[in-house]
Amino acid sequence: MPSNPLEVRLLGAGDAPAYRLLRLRGLREHPEAFTSSAEQEAGKPLEWSQRRLTPDAARPHDFFLGAFRAGVLCGVVGLQGRYRPKEFHNATLVGMVVAPEHAGLGVGRALVEALVQHARRLPSLEQIDLTVTAGNDRARVLYERCGFAQVGLLPRAIRVDGRYHDKLQMQLRLGDGPGPS
Ligand SMILES: CC(C)(COP(=O)(O)OP(=O)(O)OC[C@H]1O[C@@H](n2cnc3c(N)ncnc32)[C@H](O)[C@@H]1OP(=O)(O)O)[C@@H](O)C(=O)NCCC(=O)NCCS
Repeated sequence: MPSNPLEVRLLGAGDAPAYRLLRLRGLREHPEAFTSSAEQEAGKPLEWSQRRLTPDAARPHDFFLGAFRAGVLCGVVGLQGRYRPKEFHNATLVGMVVAPEHAGLGVGRALVEALVQHARRLPSLEQIDLTVTAGNDRARVLYERCGFAQVGLLPRAIRVDGRYHDKLQMQLRLGDGPGPS
């Protein structure tokens, strides 16, 4: 294990340059893992990332977390609320990326556990959903270990280089037990 401890904290606008680089790297290296595409995201200015990481009182369930080792951002994950009244109790886990040189060391697990812990403190939020591309067993197992269960399947949800991929839909009910162990 690396000697430097892992720090997981909320990201803010000042983290935008490092966040943007890691996100674009994830999109380029794992195109089939994400619905966003690297080409489209690369065209967005730094201000877009700054806005995304800036707290917004109108979107109280939105936040991004970063995992740092020795001050270096090695993984990110986000939560995005849904703000129409009938679905206000839902939010979606998005943008989960760990840099390959930090993979397999528990960074992803630490990020999802911290996200769930943070989400439990948001009083109106009852459940978190996410989608994961079929075949991405590493991510699926990680989510299962953190308490998510598969609730559905979207056939042919994304098309990457002419090839279709299904997406598993997963959900965690925040009221169900203590969650990650
Ligand atoms: C998926 C990803 C986020 C995992 O991050 P990570 O930091 O490597 O994950 P962790 O080290 O915390 O491992 C999480 C769990 O998965 C398990 N795991 C690791 N490799 C695995 C594999 N090939 N198959 C199944 N499970 C695996 C680990 O044993 C661990 O379980 P444990 O905590 O009970 O020991 C990372 O590999 C990544 O960024 N992948 C590319 C982008 C991506 O797929 N994002 C998810 C989009 S939905």
